[in-house]
Amino acid sequence: MTAKNFDVVVIGGGPGGYIAAIRAAQLGFNTACIDEWKNKDGKPAPGGTCTNVGCIPSKALLQSSEHYEHAGKHFADHGIEVKGLGLDLAKMLARKDTVVKQNNDGILFLFKKNKIAFFHGRGSFVKAGEGGYDIQVGEETLTGKHVIVATGSNARPLPGAPFDEENILSNDGALRIQGVPKKLGLIGSGVIGLEMGSVWRRLGSEVTVLEALPTFLGAVDEQIAKEAKKAFDKQGLKIELGVKVGEIKNGKKGVSVAWTNAKGEAQTLDVDKLIVSIGRVPNTTGLNPEAVGLKLDERGAVLVDDQCRTNLPNVWAVGDVVRGPMLAHKAEEEGVAVAERIAGQHGHVNFNTIPWVIYTSPEIAWVGQTEQQLKAAGVKYKAGTFPFMANGRARALGDTTGMVKFLADATTDEILGVHIVGPMASELISEAVVAMEFKASSEDIARICHAHPSLSEATKEAALAVDKRTLNF
Ligand code: FAD
Ligand code: NAI
Repeated sequence: MTAKNFDVVVIGGGPGGYIAAIRAAQLGFNTACIDEWKNKDGKPAPGGTCTNVGCIPSKALLQSSEHYEHAGKHFADHGIEVKGLGLDLAKMLARKDTVVKQNNDGILFLFKKNKIAFFHGRGSFVKAGEGGYDIQVGEETLTGKHVIVATGSNARPLPGAPFDEENILSNDGALRIQGVPKKLGLIGSGVIGLEMGSVWRRLGSEVTVLEALPTFLGAVDEQIAKEAKKAFDKQGLKIELGVKVGEIKNGKKGVSVAWTNAKGEAQTLDVDKLIVSIGRVPNTTGLNPEAVGLKLDERGAVLVDDQCRTNLPNVWAVGDVVRGPMLAHKAEEEGVAVAERIAGQHGHVNFNTIPWVIYTSPEIAWVGQTEQQLKAAGVKYKAGTFPFMANGRARALGDTTGMVKFLADATTDEILGVHIVGPMASELISEAVVAMEFKASSEDIARICHAHPSLSEATKEAALAVDKRTLNF
């Protein structure tokens, strides 16, 4: 048993943890990061949910499946003939695994580059002492003057239908189905439901999504959600809203889901595989928070203030294991801010300008307030929209679904929200984030020169539309 002293010990090597460790090391702290994720060979695979079974592999498969769909359905529009199109799913999955490994290796390299001591294993609190907090990992005990908890989240199972990752799949199993299921069911039409549903639909599955809420993507601006739903319907993604899921039978031949539709009629969905994507729960398994008196809230999240301080001095928590949106970039921002606060600096995270992206086709991205939120709050606003149909670059791409929508304060013209459904929305939203971070008005965007032809011209035009002076529509 060896004891090691550090200025900062980070528990968890996902985007919250590894980024916090890098920033702490940059600030001159003697830093350790503990992460327990292993790859299939038992080797360390830092990067957390995001790198291993989340953001990265899902985007790899979204890209591959989109290429496949384009080759089969859209290349012909460009005058490209494809004969004998085939799918090598094993190769597609292997490519995804390679992308994941590149990211794991990249993080291990960054630990070395920044002289961060990496410990592979589960970190558990042992006690609080004079020199800081003792944390056990394997045979070793680390003492951290400061501790950053970044232990992430896990998929939430449906009661009575545990994940077996064979038939009933979490995000983990959903990313490694070995043969395209003929029939695929998804419970929950949130972010994972739509992204994973899109992947497997493009590869040939007949996909049905069962969603409890009566409205589609309730957190998204209504006009944008409606436009997205139209596109998904057209693609053949079957989304049933307002359903009540009943008994789930998991048998040798697949999964049978009893459900009631919005009219209250009893239905049965028989599928080869079922993905359950009904949200995620904070993860503190094995952390042993009781040993030091670290407080959790009623959902099991580590209780923190708006600066990520826990109830214990010098213990911080960031990312999915605390309140707020479960997004990799939110976790990263919190990790950086905490490291800077430990250094006595004024780290900041602006929760009002955290962008959301759903990487479907069309992509959906937004920042700030929706129209329904502004209405509910009684804020006087102006709205401007511009359709991609009227954008030259979108026409050249052959991808004209959707629009950009601006919401600005009726009096000051400050941008309050930007909502996009359409091609490359994930990239276009950054301009809106920067603008909102600098408290820009819609007039500011409308007066900035945007390259032609580019999708970003739709952003400028939507800003112009706020004052009813679009040029191309
Ligand atoms: P995690 O990434 O979960 O990392 C926590 C790490 O801590 C893990 O490696 C875990 O093994 C380790 N750990 C836990 N307990 C211990 C312990 N006691 N000791 C040692 N190690 C421990 N977000 C986006 O912003 N964009 C996306 O496109 C996106 N796509 C997603 C797709 C899917 C399918 C899923 C499931 C999620 C996606 N997310 C996306 C969400 C994103 O993955 C999370 O918000 C992000 O990973 C949270 O980072 P984190 O560092 O808080 O936790
Ligand atoms: P989610 O919160 O996005 O969606 C869950 C959906 O399931 C909701 O629409 C909810 O109403 C529905 N639901 C809940 N219980 C249900 C039930 N019993 N029956 C039917 N429907 C039910 O959660 P999801 O998709 O699991 O993703 C978890 C989180 O991971 C996301 O909230 C997001 O933070 C993160 N993520 C982010 C991505 C991105 O940024 N592109 C991609 C994927 C995940």
